[in-house]
Amino acid sequence: AVAMTIAGLGTGFAEEKVKIGFSQGTMESSWRVNMVEGNKKYAEANLPDVDLIVTNGENQASKQVSDVESLISQGVKTLIISPVTADALTPVVKQAMDAGIPVVTLDRKVNTDVTLHIGADNVLIGKTAGEFVCQTLGGKGNVIEIQGTAGASATVDRHDAFHKVLAEKCPDVKVVADQVANYVREPAIKFMEDMLQRFKPGEIQLVYAHNDDMALGAVTALEAANRLSEVKVVGIDGENAAYDAIKAGKMVATFTYHFVAPEGVQYGYKVAKGEKLDKEIVLPTHQVDATNVDDWIGKGF
Ligand code: AHR
Repeated sequence: AVAMTIAGLGTGFAEEKVKIGFSQGTMESSWRVNMVEGNKKYAEANLPDVDLIVTNGENQASKQVSDVESLISQGVKTLIISPVTADALTPVVKQAMDAGIPVVTLDRKVNTDVTLHIGADNVLIGKTAGEFVCQTLGGKGNVIEIQGTAGASATVDRHDAFHKVLAEKCPDVKVVADQVANYVREPAIKFMEDMLQRFKPGEIQLVYAHNDDMALGAVTALEAANRLSEVKVVGIDGENAAYDAIKAGKMVATFTYHFVAPEGVQYGYKVAKGEKLDKEIVLPTHQVDATNVDDWIGKGF
């Protein structure tokens, strides 16, 4: 706090603001909008001494790197970053850490040491999704995978862990086609339309999409082609629309993926205040399918 004199009021203390930078990688999915809004609301209601500066990388790693550089030059006390991709953001994170600015990463990781990482376990999600798919297809079938942003740690983990389980537990379940659709619905619809041209009825049994926006895009394309009854759809995130789709038999499963609000700013604040914390907080994830969807309806985002 800075001592100051206000004419006629004597000596008082004006609270010095704690400047925290929050670099969001993209706002293209509703999940990410929730992440930003949830953290902002929490700070507004509970942390009156925080000045939270939010930037949007627009799904371009180069834009996000300059956002982070600009936050550093504005003198932030702590950086909260949800990185678009790991490799591209690693040097600027290292630069901040070397300069003594603590970094908290949310949801996706970078390839260098950070003060704290908070997010759900994407390896566990990919593995559990793989086990669910092996079981749902009875050990045999063709899968189309719709991937998130290339080079994002969530994408790599959701892909690698899924494929590992298939190879080990059900080698007759094959991923016959895949494409990056950046966690966005429109490119997923387009890709699925192309796949429905390429694969004839009976040639695809399941779609594994790295988030619900893309899974719901696949559902849209399948419904338009009148082929939803032959293909099962799995997503990730826990959107209310995905729960409704499971209830209606249009999707078979999703996995809840915490959007790290309010934990991002809550812990970012603790870090800025110099609190000693563990280096990682792993948030829980749950499989939601036809057996338990009634417990989840309306509880997503
Ligand atoms: O990094 C993970 C993903 O990013 C979320 O699952 C997705 O919806 C978001 O854009």
